Amino acid sequence: MIAKDKIQSDKLPKHVGIIMDGNGRWAKQKGKIRMFGHRSGVIAVKETVEMAAELGIQYLTLYAFSTENWKRPKIEINALMELLVSTIHKETKTLNENNIRLSAIGDIESLPSSCRRELKEAIELTKNNTRMTLVLALSYSSRWELTRAMQTIAEKVSRKELKPEDISEETIQNHLNTSGIPDPELLIRTSGEHRISNFLLWQIAYTELYFTEKLWPDFRKEDFCEAIINFQNRERRFGKISEQIKSS
Ligand code: FPP
Repeated sequence: MIAKDKIQSDKLPKHVGIIMDGNGRWAKQKGKIRMFGHRSGVIAVKETVEMAAELGIQYLTLYAFSTENWKRPKIEINALMELLVSTIHKETKTLNENNIRLSAIGDIESLPSSCRRELKEAIELTKNNTRMTLVLALSYSSRWELTRAMQTIAEKVSRKELKPEDISEETIQNHLNTSGIPDPELLIRTSGEHRISNFLLWQIAYTELYFTEKLWPDFRKEDFCEAIINFQNRERRFGKISEQIKSS
């Protein structure tokens, strides 16, 4: 039986996040330059987006470029930005044909203008699509997002628009880039690294974590399905005991 047939459609996570890792190592294993790994990673992105939409996942968030990635060699940053621009440009039509909305989280204003322009255009062109939302985390880090949220909340307090005692978890949630998006139920990280790397720290409080040894460019539909099946076989207790979950 192929993995997809083992998936229970009534127990799907609404939101899946992915830390796509291992492009560089994949390229090195093949004696190629790192960009070869990133370019091959686009195939894995396409396969994953297709499978997520096919299954009925509502939100898929991909960690494509972190705030820390700005520390990489300039040549790799530039090539990655070009790859993003060209991929978004090429794939907008396919996103529309498949009723997929593109969205982005992160410090978008810090991206090169060509990237910003392409991204904003694709977001605009796909804004009415309803099947799935593909969220690209670009120049994103959770600490950046939380710091920015705290600044905005503090400004509102100083302008007396908000009382400190009225700040709730919901207030913080509403000031994050992911406001309006449900927390991910499943977070996948490829390449055998067991780290969160500053990704959606607030949002993953109750998220199931799934780590695979596969390097990102090797990640295929079947691997995505395996992660979903693994998720479906877990018991999510949210602090309760097993018997309470079974009787509800
Ligand atoms: C991590 O591998 C990957 C990235 C930092 C970039 C991810 C980008 C893509 C897959 C291409 C474009 C994506 C989209 C959404 C169009 P790494 O370089 O950290 O690998 P390493 O840990 O083996 O060095």
